[in-house]
Amino acid sequence: MPDAVIRHGDKELTLPTYVGTEGETAVDIGKLRTEMGMVTLDKGFGNTAEGHSTVSYIDGESGILRYRGYSIEQLAESATFLEVAYLLQYGELPNKAELESYVEAITLHTLLREDVKHLFEAFPNTAHPMQILASATSALATYYPDALDPLDADAVDISSRRLIAKTPTMIAWSYKYSVHQPYVYPDNDLDYSSNFLKMMFSVPAEDYAPDPVLTNALNMLLILHADHGQNCSASAVRLVGSGHANIFSSVAAGIHALSGPLHGGANQAVLEMLEGIYASGEDIDTVVKRAKDKSDPFRLMGFGHRVYKNFDPRARIIKKAAEDVLDALGVDDPLLDIALRLEEVALSDEYFVERNLYPNVDFYSGIIYRAMGFPTDMFTVLFALGRLPGWLAQWRELAADPSTRIFRPRQLYTGEPLRDYVSIEDR
Ligand code: SDX
Repeated sequence: MPDAVIRHGDKELTLPTYVGTEGETAVDIGKLRTEMGMVTLDKGFGNTAEGHSTVSYIDGESGILRYRGYSIEQLAESATFLEVAYLLQYGELPNKAELESYVEAITLHTLLREDVKHLFEAFPNTAHPMQILASATSALATYYPDALDPLDADAVDISSRRLIAKTPTMIAWSYKYSVHQPYVYPDNDLDYSSNFLKMMFSVPAEDYAPDPVLTNALNMLLILHADHGQNCSASAVRLVGSGHANIFSSVAAGIHALSGPLHGGANQAVLEMLEGIYASGEDIDTVVKRAKDKSDPFRLMGFGHRVYKNFDPRARIIKKAAEDVLDALGVDDPLLDIALRLEEVALSDEYFVERNLYPNVDFYSGIIYRAMGFPTDMFTVLFALGRLPGWLAQWRELAADPSTRIFRPRQLYTGEPLRDYVSIEDR
């Protein structure tokens, strides 16, 4: 691969370049500051790779997403979420024995310590589930201090399994507390998605039979959210992990990053936007006009993406699933009609077309979560549950890489030059 050359003034620097699996090219600027006295500026890191990764591949122009080389379409169609969690973390699809062993290991760790209940009960009833989840995830490090060393592969393995196993229980128990219902314990006879739905929606006074329509839809949604390269929250997990913070603290940082409405919080914001349009009766053309108006802070939530300049492949699958699940449940949700109409109008409007703004993963997912019975403020927690194996895979990749360095970006200082202190009397 030919080197790159940077010339500035009378200086010239030759920089090595690398080619990725799919032909993308990177220039290594590792010597830029020492040799040229310069740093790069790249708002939002839109053109900057911190390093190599083998976990996911995204082609934003073509609308392609693959986990460890497998297309998201095939995994969503044929895999289970725990199979994908294994694939993302260990790099290969498990064989039958490996999958059975992994599923058993997860199943046998689904219980929480009884005193974790006090954590959920300490929060005000109005607490947002993402704040609770981040706090509870951090707290797990205090209950399991035996396996926190990021450089001990066995400790990382057991802590990763504890997180995958216990997060559904934490989510369900914090929900049960918020609706003043009894906690429902994990049922080890059920698969991952069915067990979560039972902990969420069953009550001790009634039998509960998982609905395969909901179980299969949740399994598919969790797979579609499982990883997405160096997105905002995965970068937060890697940054915190680069300082050798433990895996619980790193994942808690990812949960906080995901909660923002520009990131995972968008799935809640989309539903609130659709509910607002439905309640106000505002016509779609007016909504789209407002989204284009720079003087109006309103954005079409669930639209646009830093990387996808084509249809988000996940949105395409979720859109179809939303229609199928609502049909199967016999639900006629006017918000789906509004979403479909919004998509139709926006994608025929040159403002969206010239900026390559398409529906993203968050645009339709909330329609399904709502049909399943989840409250709107829990949608981003469901995103976090899906993204957990991706965060773990990204963090483990970084921790296992001997060339990893602590993340410490530079800056271009444009503040005040040196000046002397002025005593309070003279100010
Ligand atoms: C996720 O990175 C990932 O992979 C994230 C994610 C994952 O799986 O981890 O895919 C999950 O976070 C999906 C995105 C969810 N967020 C939303 O739906 C919020 C609404 N979308 C936007 O705020 C925005 O599109 C972002 C945040 C998603 C992307 O922001 P960028 O890349 O910084 O793009 P930008 O803000 O610079 O926008 C470019 C232009 C601007 O207009 P101009 O200045 O060129 O005139 O497009 C406009 C923006 O104003 N624009 C929108 C818009 N999104 C971008 N205008 C109206 N509505 C929108 N939704």
